[in-house]
Amino acid sequence: MSPNKKDNMQYIGIDLGTSRSVVSASNGNRKWVESYVGWPKDFVAKKMLGKRVLFGSEALEHRLALNLSRPLQNGVLKEGTERDEAAVQELIGHLIELADVEPGKDICVAVGVPAEALKVNKIAIRNAISEYAKNLMVVSEPFSVAYGLGTLDNTMILDIGAGTVDFCIMHGTVPMEDDQRSILMAGDYVDEQLLKLLTEKHPEADFSLNMVRRFKEKHGFVGSSKRRVKVEAPVDGIFTEFDITEEMRRACESPMPAIVETVIDLIAGFDPEFQESVRKNIIIAGGGSQLSGLDTFLTEATKQFEPCKFTCIDDPLHAGADGALELAADMPEEFLEKL
Ligand SMILES: Nc1ncnc2c1ncn2[C@@H]1O[C@H](COP(=O)(O)OP(=O)(O)OP(=O)(O)O)[C@@H](O)[C@H]1O
Ligand SMILES: [Mg+2]
Repeated sequence: MSPNKKDNMQYIGIDLGTSRSVVSASNGNRKWVESYVGWPKDFVAKKMLGKRVLFGSEALEHRLALNLSRPLQNGVLKEGTERDEAAVQELIGHLIELADVEPGKDICVAVGVPAEALKVNKIAIRNAISEYAKNLMVVSEPFSVAYGLGTLDNTMILDIGAGTVDFCIMHGTVPMEDDQRSILMAGDYVDEQLLKLLTEKHPEADFSLNMVRRFKEKHGFVGSSKRRVKVEAPVDGIFTEFDITEEMRRACESPMPAIVETVIDLIAGFDPEFQESVRKNIIIAGGGSQLSGLDTFLTEATKQFEPCKFTCIDDPLHAGADGALELAADMPEEFLEKL
């Protein structure tokens, strides 16, 4: 690439998530949006809202007037639904707009997507980006996280998102399918469990999925708790206090056995000479990495098998998009898909 051409290139990293999507650009812009896309249901809604399409919290707020899509639910574009494909396209367009690239610049985009979506939906995602970018690369989310952290060798990345927990062993190359796993018990699953436990215990109270998700994001923990978790929920319209410490612990711990099993299994399949160093370098990313006590809990839980060491990253919200941005900027042109 001639220096001139590179000067005219703007790099963008995108983390396309089930619940949150994040963009990080070489002009310094970093933005995120909840992964909701909504179109006005009819002409009245369109007139009232004054927009063709709405995103994120604004879309949620007006959901009764919209056809709403959360296109990456369960880590994959819901197969064959045109609306979800269109939603991904709109969402990517919106993120690129948020990056606020100078007009006239060529755009090179790297996108991290949940590992499962990468298997099933690479073409749909590629098509969605092709409208906006000149060069493109689609990678799995844990790989973009690892790239950004510079932990490319003998490390495992565990990305606890909303729809999936993605596991990926890094050994100094672009990871192959065998190096990656995905399970569907992640943040959304914890929310469902919490709602179920609370509704069973307190049938008189009105808990909702959005409410319990907020409780979890504020008070979620695994292992022993230092404080009681007390929240308020309406009973016959009157806000009443509940101690939900035990339900919170059980819900947050519900995916842990599957996580431990997958970690152990993935390492067991890795080259025996390097297993020990991977065990000592397990990095937890994704929104779910913020559960209090998580690194200690998992380190303890693996003791009975082969002792492993887990560490949570500092900035789970931006790590995927920042890593994707670095990838876009570093990638030799022959590795990028041209559009
Ligand atoms: N402080 C917190 N404590 C525990 N969980 C949290 C916290 N903040 C966010 N989460 C949870 O993290 C999940 C979202 O994480 P993230 O943004 O990494 O997911 P995503 O990338 O959208 O999903 P996926 O990777 O599955 O596509 C949600 O389940 C959310 O409730
Ligand atoms: Mg994610």
